[in-house]
Amino acid sequence: RTRIAQLFADAESLGGTTVTVAGWVRSVRDMKNFGFVTVNDGSCFKDLQVVMSRDTLANYDEIAHQVAGAAVICAGEVKLTPDAPQPFELAAATIEVAGASAGDYPLQKKRTTPEFLRTQQHLRPRTNLFRAVFRIRSVAANAIHTFFQDRGFVYVNTPIITTSDCEGAGEMFHVTTLDLANVPKNDDGTVDYTQDFFGKPASLTVSGQLNAENFAMAFGDVYTFGPTFRAENSNTARHAAEFWMIEPEIAFADLEDDMNLAEDMLKFVISYVMEKCPDELNMLNKFVDKGLIERLTHVANSDFARVTYTEAIEILEAAVAKGQKFEFPVSWGIDLQTEHERFLTEQYFKKPTFVTDYPVEIKAFYMRLNDDGKTVAAADCLVPGIGEIVGGSQREERLDVLERRISELGMDPEQYKYYCDLRRFGTCKHAGFGLGFERLVMYLTGVSNIRDVIPHPRTVGNAEF
Ligand code: 4AD
Ligand code: MG
Repeated sequence: RTRIAQLFADAESLGGTTVTVAGWVRSVRDMKNFGFVTVNDGSCFKDLQVVMSRDTLANYDEIAHQVAGAAVICAGEVKLTPDAPQPFELAAATIEVAGASAGDYPLQKKRTTPEFLRTQQHLRPRTNLFRAVFRIRSVAANAIHTFFQDRGFVYVNTPIITTSDCEGAGEMFHVTTLDLANVPKNDDGTVDYTQDFFGKPASLTVSGQLNAENFAMAFGDVYTFGPTFRAENSNTARHAAEFWMIEPEIAFADLEDDMNLAEDMLKFVISYVMEKCPDELNMLNKFVDKGLIERLTHVANSDFARVTYTEAIEILEAAVAKGQKFEFPVSWGIDLQTEHERFLTEQYFKKPTFVTDYPVEIKAFYMRLNDDGKTVAAADCLVPGIGEIVGGSQREERLDVLERRISELGMDPEQYKYYCDLRRFGTCKHAGFGLGFERLVMYLTGVSNIRDVIPHPRTVGNAEF
């Protein structure tokens, strides 16, 4: 069996040879004595044009009656067609129907909207859009592993079920074997978790960072790449309840090292995908986002902007003074909203932008307190079209400061005992970040809704399959 991608790659040398191709029918055109079947096998989103003739194809009528979606196996000679739009076609000697398609196949030739396709999660991978997006998703994953592995990072698999809330935002999905209709209670009315599977409350992880830090204190440079879960009640185009995160953690490193790593990684992944997926990017550039290739080329070749949170607030306030409207008022101390992030990266800097040194009140407990006592050594990377794509920080490596912070926030010190222990046995400055993989894929493809870069998206009120 030859894949269609290989035919396109080697067309010249395959001309005149006999090949077998298996795939799914996109369209059938019957001209009575001859006809055309276009077939796609998923190896690329280009279709193979199969030509059939009533004289030579024994089951011509059977094939002429097939509709889009049918699975077929075609064998015949590759004929170069230098004068036609497609460089070659397959002259069918035999076409076998592996599985016919029912007449109500929902993916018809006319282009369908992403909204409609979300209702067809089982079939939408067969469209050009999804073939392009999910090949890029696969190649980008490989790019990420290549980037870190080439630099000697160790890939760590952190647990999916956890008993700590890394981000402290209380947005966790609980994992329990207790009978919800009949929950065991303590005398004071609280749930008796000693009777639960783990003997204490457990949940799906929101981040592998705390576990990755343990490994960074042994291996130096590590990264995770796995699923994370957030029960965030945000019904937006960039939030999913289940998403993948890449989390490097680097020892003997500060915030600047962290930003340099994130910037290098993003540029590497962009260049890698541009090299491996030119056809997919051209298609997306034509039908999804006309500025895509130009933007990616620019980003891969220019420096990201870097600005402190305090400077960012000044920029936003100056814009407001000049008449810029924001739904959410700007003042020092606010958490930047998507509208602010997008203004900074799309209208002000017009390129990916790191915002650093956020107020301590709006960031997680583990971030290193700056000397001003008001801000922490955090860095978020914002990109045009999306907003935050990377969230990172230098970690609090000083035991006393960390313990103070944990108690200030009313967190249970017992739960973070191991984490604090790392500061007792050979602490060192260290840093890391989390890259949202789906947001990266949105950025690489120009697709504007996170639901269309996840095979089976899980969002508020939606978990099909
Ligand atoms: O900024 P966040 O919450 O950072 C952390 O979880 C840190 N523990 C990471 C670290 O330092 N190791 O999340 C990191 C990134 C965000 O920048 C965003 O790209 C993505 O994860 N993200 C989401 N992506 C899709 N849907 C959601 N609900 C997301 N929440 C965060
Ligand atoms: Mg964040």
